[in-house]
Amino acid sequence: MKRSCSAAIALCLCASASAAERDVERRANELLARMTLTEKIGQLVQINASGGQVPDALRQRVREGRIGSMLNEIVPAASQELQRVAVEESRLGIPLLMGRDVIHGYRTIFPIPLGQAAAWDPDLVAAAAAVAAEEAAGAGFQWTFAPMMDIARDPRWGRIAEGFGEDPHLASVLAAAMVRGFQGDRLSAPNRIAACAKHYAGYGAAEGGRDYDTAWIPEGLLRDVYLPPFKAAVDAGVATVMTSFNEINGVPSTGSDFLLRRVLRGEWGFKGFVVSDWNSMSEMIAHGFAKDLPDVAAKSLTAGVDMEMQSAAYSDHLEALVRAGKVPEKLVDEAARNVLRVKLELGLFDTRRPFAAAPPGKPGPEALALAKRAAVRSVVLLKNEGRLLPLAKEKATVAVIGPLADDPYEVLGTWNRDGQVDDTVTPLAALRTLLGSAERVRYAPGLKQARSRETADFAAAVEAARQSDVALLFVGEEAILSGEAHSRAYLDLPGAQQELVEAVAATGKPLVLVVLAGRPLTIPDVFGKAQAVLYAWHPGTMTGPALADLLFGLESPSGKLPITFPKTEGQIPVYYAHKNTGRPPTGRKLTLIDDIPPRARQSSLGDASRYLDIGFEPLYPFGYGLSYTEYRYANLRLSAERVGKADTLRVLVDVTNTGSRDGLEIVQLYVRDLVASLTRPVKELKAFQRVRISAGETKVVELELPVASLGFHDAAMRYVVEPGAFHLWVGGDSASGLESGFEVVE
Ligand code: BGC
Repeated sequence: MKRSCSAAIALCLCASASAAERDVERRANELLARMTLTEKIGQLVQINASGGQVPDALRQRVREGRIGSMLNEIVPAASQELQRVAVEESRLGIPLLMGRDVIHGYRTIFPIPLGQAAAWDPDLVAAAAAVAAEEAAGAGFQWTFAPMMDIARDPRWGRIAEGFGEDPHLASVLAAAMVRGFQGDRLSAPNRIAACAKHYAGYGAAEGGRDYDTAWIPEGLLRDVYLPPFKAAVDAGVATVMTSFNEINGVPSTGSDFLLRRVLRGEWGFKGFVVSDWNSMSEMIAHGFAKDLPDVAAKSLTAGVDMEMQSAAYSDHLEALVRAGKVPEKLVDEAARNVLRVKLELGLFDTRRPFAAAPPGKPGPEALALAKRAAVRSVVLLKNEGRLLPLAKEKATVAVIGPLADDPYEVLGTWNRDGQVDDTVTPLAALRTLLGSAERVRYAPGLKQARSRETADFAAAVEAARQSDVALLFVGEEAILSGEAHSRAYLDLPGAQQELVEAVAATGKPLVLVVLAGRPLTIPDVFGKAQAVLYAWHPGTMTGPALADLLFGLESPSGKLPITFPKTEGQIPVYYAHKNTGRPPTGRKLTLIDDIPPRARQSSLGDASRYLDIGFEPLYPFGYGLSYTEYRYANLRLSAERVGKADTLRVLVDVTNTGSRDGLEIVQLYVRDLVASLTRPVKELKAFQRVRISAGETKVVELELPVASLGFHDAAMRYVVEPGAFHLWVGGDSASGLESGFEVVE
């Protein structure tokens, strides 16, 4: 009975598959039928490169079909030779799949993903990924381990730099865009590569923001907040998915039948293959979930991991387990078929895809122009007192100060594996070019490195500020302070940078702070010393030209925060889509520490959810970002006051650019489900639109709100849109906006 049922499902899948998909399936099955158990398991094995070497043992393993994929072979000659052995000397000629972490660019480095997210620009994200795909493909890679789409609400976690921030809607839109950029319409095109949705799942919810740590995520929260970007990536056709290092609710993701079989394949219909993270299979022993490597192999395959990265449970133990009848061969067949399908879709068996030519040369003008545009759009203007920015290009002399003003490496950010410092244009170089004369730029870094505590050069920096019209301070984090395994407990400026800012500020000269960092830093006091603050993340190869253009008004800032900025580490986690609580702090007179009289009794302390010392508001809310112009929102109107579950509400608003410069505004729409069977967040982003508005112009912006997007997972884990009243906001960030409401009816 069971058998005929799955046969019927297979038949109906076949009927709905395209001719190309049927052809891939047929070819995968034909290959599979000819493979030995050893060869099938070989497709499930991924090993790290031997640094450009092809030792005999490796050559032999490839020849015997015992390796399906490699990562990090960056030497084209070695990668080409390995492919030659696989294709010409192995029995079935199955090519290797060559993978690499192409996270925010290959040779041309774009802003870190968190910076890209600040642009709220899916087309830009897709275009950057397409450039990266082309460069990586040219160097012999057909697979990237990106996009990373872990929702993260704790900036202590270093890997926050690699994702798209705290919000499931924004992250979903951008994850899908990045998949489209890497893969294009046709995976087999020689300039496209397979993407990998990672890390599945819940990795960003690590306790205390410590990398690799435990995640406790109730299923409803998992489905409503952490899984949507993965679903969006699957819907966009992502070819592969990577499991995460962490455990969720007691089960390591790499051994989670629930995540891999039930949700990913069962509910979402994922047809690609699943790769473990680096050693994450064997680490299930340390987790206390598997007793030894054979147990790891059995549990991973049963859960649905198709390919093992780096550790050797499959290569060393799977065959014996199958032969002993402990693991059904059918599971090996399934996994091998999943891998073969992706190899076929990539066109690895076709001569059109050349295996490794040469590492890409210097980025061309088009790639650089795109990298500059991406960097410009990723920068968020947090503060601009007295309209200090933009600076007048004709007049100003500037002091260029700070350890990151002329550092071509740190501004490339985390997971820069193949970008070159020689390609990077630093802020100092770009400012010199833009201002044209050496006398107008006084460079005195003050600190040699961001982490340095050596203050001997402060005097020169202070002097440079004194002699100039304005001081530009380039401060922040080195690339290595964010990214994998680089969580921080103090989110301040490392080294003596804060003291440097204070020393320069004491001159009384106007001060512009440019912060280059992989995460939100909790430095309100430092921000307080400057009249203007540009938060630039790590912008990549074109850091300098982008920042110079922004500082001098050739471009206007348009970035908006993809993540809430806390006032201090003690406020973490703080995110805009929190719950209201029974004692919400909004609209109340809050008692703060200074209001408390001596010997006060408990009853006089007030009664709201907040901190006595900092209240409840963050430093800057999600979605926030200034520009060199201003916008006025007016005349919010909805296409209906009552909508059915299948309807799409149209939301219109007039946005006027009231300033004297043209601008690009990111119009954001938030909703709140006021009463539900499970309480809902106070606000949820549901739509946004980027709009160019000329000075003085009014644009009518129309946003679409499908009622089906207003649901959540109820206590029975059904996705439901419950009837009732909804509140709606449209504005320029998550803490402001025009308000309205509507009702969802049955
Ligand atoms: C990381 C992954 C990465 C993999 C391969 C792991 O340590 O968690 O994000 O893709 O290594 O380099």
